[in-house]
Amino acid sequence: MIKLDNCIKKYSNVTALNHVSLEIKQGEFAYLIGPSGAGKTTLIKLLTCEEKVTTGSLKMGNVDLPRLQDSQIPEFRRQLGVVPQDFFLLESLTIYQNLVYVLRAIETKRKLIKEKALRALDEVGMLEYKHLFPKELSVGQRQKVAIARAIVNEPKILLADEPTGNLDNKSAIEVMKILYQLNQKGTTILMATHNSTIVNTIRYRVLEINKGQIIRDQDKGSYGRWNDHRDVFVI
Ligand SMILES: Nc1ncnc2c1ncn2[C@@H]1O[C@H](COP(=O)(O)OP(=O)(O)OP(=O)(O)O)[C@@H](O)[C@H]1O
Ligand SMILES: [Mg+2]
Repeated sequence: MIKLDNCIKKYSNVTALNHVSLEIKQGEFAYLIGPSGAGKTTLIKLLTCEEKVTTGSLKMGNVDLPRLQDSQIPEFRRQLGVVPQDFFLLESLTIYQNLVYVLRAIETKRKLIKEKALRALDEVGMLEYKHLFPKELSVGQRQKVAIARAIVNEPKILLADEPTGNLDNKSAIEVMKILYQLNQKGTTILMATHNSTIVNTIRYRVLEINKGQIIRDQDKGSYGRWNDHRDVFVI
């Protein structure tokens, strides 16, 4: 479903991704971990076509991303759910209106807009807050709305960049429950994170990136290089 082959991404004088090859199958949940500056957001931005790969092949389903014309990108993005690292909500609109805004922007049929917006809010447990404005919400609640906005069009793939960043453990776990349920329903999820507790508790595939290179690809991996029982021996 997602396939990168030998991808290099250079910004003017920085090589952010260096010969990255990986494959993520439909229905998988994968964490993307690594230190700040490792290239996690860059990898996600290549997948959303916010950035163009410098060299290498990049496919999502049957779409060859480097070959997409600029005019084809909006339609391609409609099929993706994205929670950006620096997400923002429109502050002058209620959270319900924020979702309606997205649905209108992607030309959803009018009679479906209300139903889709309410369903997405329900899925993240925010239905009862639908008439509140973003500034009336906690950070964790805003994060849930950002997820609702990403899934409002029922995407097959969700790319979430630090969706638990700045959250306390309780809110982070609530966000993870939402992602877990989406994955159970078949959504493929790639999640960039620094949250070692989450990665060590809710075990999924771990892709570790460092200085632009994938240095580990482990099923049901842990945040550290070794499984937890091994850590005990090392200490
Ligand atoms: N628009 C840009 N122009 C130039 N360099 C960039 C740009 N975006 C990212 N970089 C550089 O690319 C490298 C990878 O950055 P990236 O944002 O992908 O890291 P990250 O793993 O997401 O880090 P963090 O955990 O802090 O979010 C860094 O060296 C960064 O400075
Ligand atoms: Mg980042």
